[in-house]
Amino acid sequence: MALLEVNNLSISFGGLRAVGDFNLKIEKGELYGLIGPNGAGKTTVFNLLTGVYKPDEGIIKLDGQDITRKNTIEINHAGIARTFQNIRLFKQLSVIDNVKVGLSERIKYSLFESIFHVGSYKAKEKEMEEEALRLLKVFDLDGEKDILASNLPYGKQRKLEIARAMATDPKLLLLDEPAAGMNPNETKELMETIALVRREFDMTILLIEHDMKLVSGICEKLTVLNFGRVLCQGETKEVLADPEVIKAYIGD
Ligand SMILES: Nc1ncnc2c1ncn2[C@@H]1O[C@H](COP(=O)(O)OP(=O)(O)OP(=O)(O)O)[C@@H](O)[C@H]1O
Ligand SMILES: [Mg+2]
Repeated sequence: MALLEVNNLSISFGGLRAVGDFNLKIEKGELYGLIGPNGAGKTTVFNLLTGVYKPDEGIIKLDGQDITRKNTIEINHAGIARTFQNIRLFKQLSVIDNVKVGLSERIKYSLFESIFHVGSYKAKEKEMEEEALRLLKVFDLDGEKDILASNLPYGKQRKLEIARAMATDPKLLLLDEPAAGMNPNETKELMETIALVRREFDMTILLIEHDMKLVSGICEKLTVLNFGRVLCQGETKEVLADPEVIKAYIGD
């Protein structure tokens, strides 16, 4: 069974069919690329997968569970976490508190339990602190744990955003153009971070990227979107050799 299975997903805004008849299958452990020109519908697909938009048609299944009509919080609990095209952090919170916000999404349930076990609240707080630190160490951000998120350099803000998403313990991580606005050095580090996430967490990743060369180096499979439609999908090598793709995308 695929980890993510999307069938015939469609949404229109006014007269514009932003995404139509979109299909996608991602197996556990894959690093999958979603590419296409500006306005092709890539971010809209993420917004559909995470419940920000409700589709006009179609079905989204995660690990066999139908999540099509669920809201963003329910979908996060079901196992999808994301980062945003424009970084979203709590800029006036410290680095570690940003990760704790992610953790609270899942430790909340334990806090609920703590109502019945008076006195364990402190223990949960400690657990959260330790878990946040553990995550920051994985991302090599523990040295900056107490500084404000807004004071991190751009590349590290991206990293922190990924760390916070990972704190919700997802099955599937969605990254929306994480390399946008990065210099070549930052981009290289980002690629290392993505490799790290796969290695450390065995994570399945769907990566939106504008730069075809960049995704082609790391993604096993690709889906190319063009005007809201799937132009081509499959093994990276085959997709990149497809004449339609070359004409519509690489050729411009
Ligand atoms: N909430 C909305 N209301 C109206 N139109 C929308 C909405 N969201 C997206 N669109 C439109 O849907 C189309 C696809 O937009 P989307 O942001 O998904 O593209 P994208 O592939 O992510 O592009 P980019 O590479 O520039 O980020 C665009 O024409 C956009 O204007
Ligand atoms: Mg976008």
